[in-house]
Amino acid sequence: MKPVFVLNGPNLGRLGSREPDVYGSATFEDLVELCRSIGRELGLSVEVRQTDDEAELVGWVHEAADGKIPIVLNPAAFTHYSYALRDALAQRTAPLVEVHISNPAAREEFRHTSVVAGVATGTIAGFGLYSYVLALHAIAEALRNGD
Ligand code: DQA
Repeated sequence: MKPVFVLNGPNLGRLGSREPDVYGSATFEDLVELCRSIGRELGLSVEVRQTDDEAELVGWVHEAADGKIPIVLNPAAFTHYSYALRDALAQRTAPLVEVHISNPAAREEFRHTSVVAGVATGTIAGFGLYSYVLALHAIAEALRNGD
């Protein structure tokens, strides 16, 4: 099975208790289960990780680039300002889908900028945890197309 990383940035480990009005009541563990089960349906070996640490996230992106591993990435707040993350992602060797649980474009002004979007294959936002389901389908389709 083709490996796919589902990488999550800061505060996403607190899903379930974190601002449930914005991010819903499902926990990070629920997200892990969901991604794994969609992966099984799509024939993808999905590995879900979360970190609050920019350096660790950049390291995982390097690992993906070296292994030609596609990424579904929710960069969380790093979306809006981490040039280090963007530069790491620019080295990608496989499809990259940026995901967001909420719709940042409909929220505060500072969330309207993504420094990641320009180096991603595409972006999916605003569908709750279903954003990840759509993103995994997009990765599967990109792989079918030989991307
Ligand atoms: C988020 C949106 C970001 O603006 C925010 O900083 C997050 C989560 C989302 O999934 O909706 O932490 O990426």
